[in-house]
Amino acid sequence: MSAVRILVISGSLREGSFNQRLADQAAIFAQEAGAEVTSLKLDAVDLPLYTPSIELNAFPEGARRLKLSFAEHDGLLIASPEHNGSIPSALKNAIDWASRPTGGETPLALTAFRGKVAGIMSASPSPFGGLRGLMHLRQILGTVQALVVPEQVAVPFAERAFQGSELTDAMAREVLAIMAQRVVTLAGVVR
Ligand SMILES: Cc1cc2nc3c(=O)[nH]c(=O)nc-3n(C[C@H](O)[C@H](O)[C@H](O)COP(=O)(O)O)c2cc1C
Repeated sequence: MSAVRILVISGSLREGSFNQRLADQAAIFAQEAGAEVTSLKLDAVDLPLYTPSIELNAFPEGARRLKLSFAEHDGLLIASPEHNGSIPSALKNAIDWASRPTGGETPLALTAFRGKVAGIMSASPSPFGGLRGLMHLRQILGTVQALVVPEQVAVPFAERAFQGSELTDAMAREVLAIMAQRVVTLAGVVR
């Protein structure tokens, strides 16, 4: 049996992002759990703002490749900042494009997400660690038919939780390792 393939994404485009660091640590834990991991940087994907007229005219190549990246993996680990109580627009835009049908699919095919096991996490300087954004992310991913595991990671007071690029908060590390393991195990069963 081939290794479980996990796609790791950060919803932050900020240099020095806490969520990118969290995503990088999740990637390490997923690898340790036996997965083959791909880290996708959203700012490396050429994505216009989702607009039906753009889609009707010609499905953008960047969106097609993004959708393929999702479809080629068995599971997702997504680290998302909280922006005004929700997820950042860049991440929502990426999910919206990847949710669209291509190549004669029906709108409900949702091939980028259906049957993918997802784990979600957030880091924020705030005392709540981006928890409200995670509730939205869970709902959005469920809507596009991903199976979001019950474990999730919210890292509060993020400036204290990392030393350099490393997540040093012991409890956050423990929960993140459990969640990454869970995603890898379930993705291997569901695929
Ligand atoms: C437009 C905007 C809205 C924000 N809204 C929230 C918020 O609702 N809750 C929160 O905890 N932090 C909020 N923040 C602060 C982010 O948590 C903070 O910038 C964090 O560092 C973003 O994650 P990153 O370091 O991965 O980029 C907001 C930041 C921006 C730019």
